Amino acid sequence: MLPVSFEEWEYRARERLTNGPFDYVAGGAGGEETMRANREAFHRWRIQPHVLTDVAERDVTVSLLGHTFPTPVLLAPISAQAIFHPDAELASAKAAASLNIPFITSTAASRSMEEIAAVMGNSPRWFQLYWSKDTDVTTSMVRRAEAAGYTAIVVTVDFPVYGWREREVRNAYFPAQLQQSIANYVSDPAFRAKLPKTPEQDIQQAIGYFLRIFFNETLSWKDIDFLRTQTKLPIFLKGILRPQDAQQAVAHGVDGIIVSNHGGRQVDGAIAALDALPGICEVVQRKIPVLMDSGIRRGTDVIKALALGASAVLVGRPYIYGLAVAGEEGVAGVLRNLLADIDRTLAASGRKSISEIDSSLLVQERR
Ligand SMILES: Cc1cc2nc3c(=O)[nH]c(=O)nc-3n(C[C@H](O)[C@H](O)[C@H](O)COP(=O)(O)O)c2cc1C
Repeated sequence: MLPVSFEEWEYRARERLTNGPFDYVAGGAGGEETMRANREAFHRWRIQPHVLTDVAERDVTVSLLGHTFPTPVLLAPISAQAIFHPDAELASAKAAASLNIPFITSTAASRSMEEIAAVMGNSPRWFQLYWSKDTDVTTSMVRRAEAAGYTAIVVTVDFPVYGWREREVRNAYFPAQLQQSIANYVSDPAFRAKLPKTPEQDIQQAIGYFLRIFFNETLSWKDIDFLRTQTKLPIFLKGILRPQDAQQAVAHGVDGIIVSNHGGRQVDGAIAALDALPGICEVVQRKIPVLMDSGIRRGTDVIKALALGASAVLVGRPYIYGLAVAGEEGVAGVLRNLLADIDRTLAASGRKSISEIDSSLLVQERR
């Protein structure tokens, strides 16, 4: 018997995981105000359903950069999934593939991007890039992603340093998780070429080099211009919260943006992602797709985000709770429920297709 509600998945995951991994997924930066704000932002919007609109034939497909996807949902990049379940990303990626939902592989995954691609067949996959200090390693990873059939690069831009996460500091958990987040590095020819001994001979030395290059505090718009010269794949920037930055992204020839505050894990006190979304959509004016994440828990949240201008959404923590509880079956269970909820909410709101959803469907709750 698998859970149905987000709260029960989280509760069951709490029972299965020790403090280290549970707090790693459930926690946020600082006092976790932004994590809470992400949810409160959804609560402030109410759906005002249409009636008598004949919703018998429904269509939840979305089109992004010329590709049609079966639903408006993608799986967010989440690092180190072996700490939640031994099958790690392979379970999540297989579950995504079974529903033809795009899976975004994290740079800091527990399995290499090639291993993950190998279990996905032709199902859509994007590669999330943490841009390291070593440009050889960064460009090598982009080459590998192209070769392994990833069809977009998602550059995470809200991570110049690791957020101040009090639960992780208390648990002193970060080192324990390191060994589970370097598969893409130890398998990378450019990374290996920088080590006197192979990672198999000396894993501590490999971890040392990983730590030296992983964070890149110097990242700037000129690096995005450089990436543009390095790949023909569409480039998304993940972690945009300011309209001016969205404008810059368009000006720099980026193909899409993801409005996100990293699930409240980076800047505590940062604006809720849903609150940032309308202002960003206003300046982007549909020149490029605007996706969003941070706080998506149910189908109604997806409908609200789409109504406020998102072309699609990323789901994060919910699928990790599914993974922790029941591996691939758990992730598939979470996704199936979410998709059913999206379809029901769409129809019960009197809308037949995602393209019929706009801000006229919502009213802001009066306090
Ligand atoms: C445990 C965990 C690990 C994450 N790892 C990454 C990562 O490797 N790369 C990345 O861009 N975002 C990462 N994120 C952020 C997610 O991609 C996404 O933005 C966030 O989970 C959205 O918030 P929500 O899950 O509360 O909806 C991670 C989030 C969590 C919870």
